[in-house]
Amino acid sequence: MKSNLKQNNILRSMIVALMLVLPALMLITSCEKVEYVTAEPIDPNLCDTTNVSYAEVIEPVLVEFCIECHNSGRSDAGVNLEGYDNVQTYALNGRLKSSMLGTMNSYVKGEGADCKKQQIFAWIEQGAQNN
Ligand code: HEC
Repeated sequence: MKSNLKQNNILRSMIVALMLVLPALMLITSCEKVEYVTAEPIDPNLCDTTNVSYAEVIEPVLVEFCIECHNSGRSDAGVNLEGYDNVQTYALNGRLKSSMLGTMNSYVKGEGADCKKQQIFAWIEQGAQNN
């Protein structure tokens, strides 16, 4: 009987110790950085804004939606968006982005219009390179 009580006491103190140690352990492990493995996008409609290419992405968008009013012959608001050098000027001085968020926003039309704008903004942020 007596040794049983002693065993009970040992067991109880072990449980108490565990109750103190477990939360501490959980706290420590919860601070560890969880790294997620990012899968390749499977949805082809997802907008790819990584390393946006001027030649492949930006120029075709400008040619389709902007060039008719902003070329070397007709340059509305004095803006010529023909060729990389001209486009770079407006990319770096902020007017390309501000115009596309403002009065020129609706000129980019059709499927993927939002993505095309995001790609142009990303390209500007990536340094507006002739890539
Ligand atoms: C139908 C003709 C037309 C088209 C198409 C057009 N623009 Fe314009 N754009 C104008 C006119 C007119 C202005 C001057 C009035 C204004 O700012 O709204 C202008 C102004 C601008 C400006 C100067 C804004 C400023 O900073 O003062 C920029 C930059 C510009 N457009 C870029 C673009 C881009 C980029 C596209 C294509 C997405 C585009 N435009 C399409 C007619 C056009």
